[in-house]
Amino acid sequence: MNSPTRRRKHEAKRESAVSGASATQIGPSFQNAIQLPLLKALEDAGGSSRPADVYKAIASKMALSAEATTGERTSASGERYNIFQQQIRWARQTAVLKGHISNGARGIWTLSQAGRAELTKIRRGSIVLVYALENGMAVWSHAEDAATVIEPRSVSLIFLSPPYPGVRRHYGSIQVPEWLDWMKRLTLLWKDLLADNGTLAINLMDRFEPGTPSYSPYIERFTLSAIDDAGLHLAGRQFWHSPTKLGNIQWTVKERHQPKNTVEQILLFSKTKRPAWDIRGLPPTPYAKRSDAQLQRDDTRLNTVRPSGYDLNPAAFARRSTGSLPGNLIVAGGASGSDKYSRRCREAGLPAHPARFPAEVPRRIIGLTTLEGQTVYDPMAGSNTTGQVALEMDRRFIASEPMLDYLKGSAFRFDHRPDFESYF
Ligand SMILES: C[S@@+](CC[C@H](N)C(=O)[O-])C[C@H]1O[C@@H](n2cnc3c(N)ncnc32)[C@H](O)[C@@H]1O
Repeated sequence: MNSPTRRRKHEAKRESAVSGASATQIGPSFQNAIQLPLLKALEDAGGSSRPADVYKAIASKMALSAEATTGERTSASGERYNIFQQQIRWARQTAVLKGHISNGARGIWTLSQAGRAELTKIRRGSIVLVYALENGMAVWSHAEDAATVIEPRSVSLIFLSPPYPGVRRHYGSIQVPEWLDWMKRLTLLWKDLLADNGTLAINLMDRFEPGTPSYSPYIERFTLSAIDDAGLHLAGRQFWHSPTKLGNIQWTVKERHQPKNTVEQILLFSKTKRPAWDIRGLPPTPYAKRSDAQLQRDDTRLNTVRPSGYDLNPAAFARRSTGSLPGNLIVAGGASGSDKYSRRCREAGLPAHPARFPAEVPRRIIGLTTLEGQTVYDPMAGSNTTGQVALEMDRRFIASEPMLDYLKGSAFRFDHRPDFESYF
């Protein structure tokens, strides 16, 4: 994993994957190969362009000969058409279906926001170091690829909030069966990275079965797959209640059928039945008002010798900690839009991540499952909230994320530190 050279190589690889193609290589593989040059041509033209200019830009980008771009065929209806241009029109149609090009004005092709995001998504197989600190590193890569370079059994906690199935974001949308299959493959990879007493923690949100107010059992299916297919143990569950969460538009707001679901789950899996956890690592939970009053009465009692003459042993009644025993509920509103991270993203013209969790969530999971100096890995790091909290808690972090803009924005969480080094 390294540096700008690596990035140039990566970009060269992207280019060479498509150069050398010609219009005679007709078919889906050629159309796939020109997806990125098509989006890039629109970006280079400022976001919109006429088809004729796109044909020229792609031919020049792919260094195609005049012969490769002028070949013609006759259609069934007897019309002559240019093969190369028709391939690009097909590729554009595919890009419209993927949401990368807007289905807008006739005669003008326009890159959508999702299309812009696609251009900053790394290709499968590449891993590029984007920034590093003494105790942390962030790589631009898919989780599947990052897993191949992390030392087996070196990670004490893998903690992530993956894209939820059925939710459309810039980084794509995936339906339940594919999602379950994807997570099953990743869980097997992550198991190998975990220390024997380590924990895999995954934050998931309920979703409805399409078109109905009935819950999808995908969380249950994933849980069973992690146990049955990956051989992990269900070590625990934490629940994150966000009082600021909005209700589902259809079933809560419009139809008033389902109460607002303000709770997300964090499922915790482990390789052994008793992973290395310690609830003393959790942030203190204040005593409830009643028990606080009770404790104060106990404190007063401690200063007295009982009527029987028995002198109470103060140690037996002393408060054992600064709070009550922690429970499994995390109460925290969604991540703030006015924090330093969001402000720096706005100033730099970068998108603030739309699905961040608040720092309280990783703080709780890291505190419960790891000790200082141990490694926490967030394979789908987004804005790298996990990495920031891990450093604050004197842990080491590894982060991977396929969208470059999110990683660049996440660097704003760390770039004030003297040991921060950027490779971009
Ligand atoms: C819900 S967000 C994580 C947000 C993060 N917890 C935070 O606080 O900023 C999920 C992230 O997974 C990333 N992602 C999608 N596919 C991925 C893959 N194959 N490998 C790694 N990350 C992926 C998305 O780009 C997105 O940033």
